[in-house]
Amino acid sequence: MNSKSIIVFGSSRRNGFTGQLVDEVAQRHNLRVIDVSDYQMTPYDYDHKNRDDDFLPLMRDVAGYEQIILASPVYWYTMSTQLKVFVDRWSDLLDIEKDLGRTLRGKQGLVISTGGDIKPERCFEECFQHSFAFMGMHYGGMLYCPTDTKKDLDLSIHEDAIAAFGEKILD
Ligand SMILES: Cc1cc2nc3c(=O)[nH]c(=O)nc-3n(C[C@H](O)[C@H](O)[C@H](O)COP(=O)(O)O)c2cc1C
Repeated sequence: MNSKSIIVFGSSRRNGFTGQLVDEVAQRHNLRVIDVSDYQMTPYDYDHKNRDDDFLPLMRDVAGYEQIILASPVYWYTMSTQLKVFVDRWSDLLDIEKDLGRTLRGKQGLVISTGGDIKPERCFEECFQHSFAFMGMHYGGMLYCPTDTKKDLDLSIHEDAIAAFGEKILD
């Protein structure tokens, strides 16, 4: 198992288009995949009444990797709600768990996504870029594959993009 890089994935379906793309990349690079839907995490709470849910243990686990790949379909021009809950909870790292938050500094963040548009709107990638930057992380780029709900996902036509993205993955 790759000890430097991990995929944190959130979608409304595990084995949908994004999940299939994630599995392809994970298989090629022996990457661990975390599906945030397997964890009990509630949205950010200003009073931190949810501090004992699964977020902090999960975040400690993820922060043990040098490269964090966030994976999500494009839903309404942004990341999935499932992944957004995880990213919103980074705010916990700015107030109650600052030491853990500081450990993210200098790490690399990447993105894997699928969407119906040939190219995602710029705002999609920008959300990730800004969020990584806010945590002091470096942005390494995005693998995006357009999908068509009327057809199965044919990953062979995305070989060049998948291979180019693979060059960025630490091992
Ligand atoms: C709720 C919802 C919102 C969507 N919004 C967008 C969108 O804003 N832009 C886009 O290109 N595709 C959009 N799509 C299409 C999905 O991004 C696309 O089908 C993607 O490959 C689905 O991945 P999944 O199987 O992991 O859910 C949307 C799909 C859903 C279900």
